[in-house]
Amino acid sequence: MPLNGPSAASPRRGSCFGRRLLLALFILALTALVSAESEDHGTLLVGSSLRRGSSHVLKKRGTSSSPSTSSSSNNNTIIPYAFDASLGKNFTEESCPEFFNTFLASESFIQCYPFSFFLQNSESFFQIVKQGAFKLSSTMDLICAVNGTQCTTIMDNYAKQLVASSNCATDYQLENPLVRQAYNAFTSYSMLYSSGCLQSTSGSYCYVDSVTNSTNPGDSYLYYLPLDVSLPGGTRPSCSSCSQNVMSIFLNYAGNTSLAISQTYVPAAQQINVFCGPNFASTAVTVASASTTSSVSVATATANAREALVAGGLASFALLLGLL
Ligand SMILES: *[C@@H]1O[C@H](CO)[C@@H](O)[C@H](O)[C@H]1NC(C)=O
Ligand SMILES: *[C@@H]1O[C@H](CO)[C@@H](O)[C@H](O)[C@H]1NC(C)=O
Ligand SMILES: *[C@@H]1O[C@H](CO)[C@@H](O)[C@H](O)[C@H]1NC(C)=O
Ligand SMILES: *[C@@H]1O[C@H](CO)[C@@H](O)[C@H](O)[C@H]1NC(C)=O
Ligand SMILES: *[C@@H]1O[C@H](CO)[C@@H](O)[C@H](O)[C@H]1NC(C)=O
Repeated sequence: MPLNGPSAASPRRGSCFGRRLLLALFILALTALVSAESEDHGTLLVGSSLRRGSSHVLKKRGTSSSPSTSSSSNNNTIIPYAFDASLGKNFTEESCPEFFNTFLASESFIQCYPFSFFLQNSESFFQIVKQGAFKLSSTMDLICAVNGTQCTTIMDNYAKQLVASSNCATDYQLENPLVRQAYNAFTSYSMLYSSGCLQSTSGSYCYVDSVTNSTNPGDSYLYYLPLDVSLPGGTRPSCSSCSQNVMSIFLNYAGNTSLAISQTYVPAAQQINVFCGPNFASTAVTVASASTTSSVSVATATANAREALVAGGLASFALLLGLL
């Protein structure tokens, strides 16, 4: 693997995990996708691309000037693109896919490297994840090097345009999965930028650890909460500072009822707290509009979560054992 001098200074990246781990992660990712799909009846492009087979050519959007040339330290970094599989034909208005093609080709969108889009709707990112910690970390370097404030403004603006009647309003109201996913990705750009760029105490990216360390496979599900994917019942994220920090970032947004995280945060926090203690992730969500703090009663929910965890946890453990 060609290494640039400067990038060797970046924190050690576990390049020594085995094939079995990769396989297990791959299956876990698939499981996540399948369960996510059944949760919201959505179409996850990665999942559908896999079913179609990987023979199709990835459409690269944007101009020929590759953003990677702007930074020499990212020389060997693979650049992910959002919605790089077919958009399909499930739109009622022509204006909607046109809007998608416009923002996907826009340099301002591409150069924000929006992690919130890559998680759910990027085949290229999925390929990078499969290549392991080293490649993924260098892509995360790219994602995290952008000006998050500036990109948040750009994404918020796109979110408003998406649901405008001249673009995708009708398909949004019909709950077209792609349009909903794009809306969630635009509106959760900021919280997923912050949480995706968190680093562990050893200097690795928390997100990279979550998808490459088989010790705590449940951690990777946390990043999907802002995208309206609930924590699957059997998932048990680790009680690490990474999990805690990710949840505390989400907490800041969970009171905004126009965001998907307002639906997924509290149940996830309760599920994590079953194992990590009642104070691990705060369930005291401050609802923005009413400016009241609604502390959700944890007692009964905790009992239910424990039950679900035991059943689901055993199932995924069995799956893992079967693989290794
Ligand atoms: C980056 O890649 C280009 C072409 O592949 C090469 O000419 C250049 O020297 C590389 N830059 C660094 C910093 O490695
Ligand atoms: C990021 O962009 C904002 C708004 O354009 C600007 O005020 C700020 O200085 C930028 N931050 C950095 C580190 O460049
Ligand atoms: C197609 O869009 C409709 C709403 O416009 C949605 O209900 C349906 O689930 C979508 N089908 C697929 C396969 O995405
Ligand atoms: C809630 O989220 C919406 C959608 O991103 C945003 O427009 C609005 O400003 C947010 N409200 C608050 C109070 O942050
Ligand atoms: C995997 O995670 C466990 C628990 O969080 C940690 O102790 C271990 O060091 C991690 N392994 C690697 C290779 O990072």
